[in-house]
Amino acid sequence: MKKKALTLIKEGLTEFYIHTIDNGSIPSKAMNVFYNKRMEINRDISTLAINAYRDLFKKDELIIVDSMAASGLSAIRILKECSKIKKIFINDINPEAVKLIKKNIRLNNLEKNHSQIEVTNKDANLLFSEIANSSDEIHKKPNVISIDPFGTPNLYMDSAFKTIEKVNGLMCITATDTAVLFGVRPKACIRKYLAKPLHTEYCKEIGARILIYFVSRIANINKIGIIPLLTFYSSHFIRFLCLSFKNKKKISSFFKKSGYIIHCNNCGYRSAFRNNILVLPKECPICNNKGVLDYAGPLWIDKIHDVDFIQKLLILNRTLKSPHKKRIEKLLTLAIEENNMPISYYNVHKLCQNLKLPSVPKIEVIIDKIREMGYRCSRTHFDFLSIKSDLDLPTIKDIMYKL
Ligand SMILES: C[S@@+](CC[C@H](N)C(=O)[O-])C[C@H]1O[C@@H](n2cnc3c(N)ncnc32)[C@H](O)[C@@H]1O
Repeated sequence: MKKKALTLIKEGLTEFYIHTIDNGSIPSKAMNVFYNKRMEINRDISTLAINAYRDLFKKDELIIVDSMAASGLSAIRILKECSKIKKIFINDINPEAVKLIKKNIRLNNLEKNHSQIEVTNKDANLLFSEIANSSDEIHKKPNVISIDPFGTPNLYMDSAFKTIEKVNGLMCITATDTAVLFGVRPKACIRKYLAKPLHTEYCKEIGARILIYFVSRIANINKIGIIPLLTFYSSHFIRFLCLSFKNKKKISSFFKKSGYIIHCNNCGYRSAFRNNILVLPKECPICNNKGVLDYAGPLWIDKIHDVDFIQKLLILNRTLKSPHKKRIEKLLTLAIEENNMPISYYNVHKLCQNLKLPSVPKIEVIIDKIREMGYRCSRTHFDFLSIKSDLDLPTIKDIMYKL
């Protein structure tokens, strides 16, 4: 059989091959072996996160599963940029990907670490269940699992939670089905995530919170609870990193972290409700119009990041060799800022359009003004042109008008 031509690419400290035919094509399932340059920031943050996790949770050795590795780039970067790795499973269902993974391991002189690396060509669920069934002792469970599929990760959550270390395991999950989570395809969201989305100006946050809620419930049926460490949106994907815990009382106490968001389609009023049973009020409490309220959920209504974890990522990011260093710093800084703020955000440009203002005031000026009035206000990583605040929308509009 004719050999496929390869092209050498560099990311961080790692050189790797992709198929020449895939070079420059739009990233999709149709590629010989998947590669997306725009996901470099995802790989950067995942590498930082593993180092942060190792240090914060005092791990002397790590067992990692990269369940959907494509070219193996992320796993190879982990091997080169993270320490104390006892074992890493590098898996992909695509046999072409597995051939490329092996080539890329050789290219990076890692084949000598054969006891540390296990390359497999399996369905991720099969791999998870094999690992789960071969490792009864708690210390043999993987500490870190990465799930980075095409589209939704929903199919893999159950077996991943059966496999991960039950206490302080790190789960790293990507969802690229943003049209589903952001409410463009609401029925698909109910089908895949058991929750109703809303296609509003803050749909990215709603989508991320639906994903977290879904992950937490699948963890719960496996007698595990989760603590969100970092949740971020970037270039059409959501990445969610969380920590596992095992304590039935604590899991039950976390039920209050989920609920619904009610949104007024007329005036933009929105509010989060800590509730299992939703009774949608007949009229909007702000504009008093009837039949204008809609809802999203069930979803996670508590914190979506852990500040200590992000502070550690910020420190590690200082020494990261990546063109995305500044963007990562901005994203992480905004994540800390937004963590204590209410759910949802207001896009400043949309507000100006709505008010028919001739120009858009600077976002910093709006934030200062709201803070001067004694209210909380921040930016958000979900949308760099938006603000979060506990001030009500009519007063925010009033401030904008006066500015
Ligand atoms: C988005 S790509 C992963 C990208 C990779 N993590 C990276 O950073 O370059 C998704 C990969 O998952 C693989 N895949 C899809 N379904 C799978 C399954 N059920 N089990 C294992 N791998 C799967 C695909 O072959 C593809 O290589």
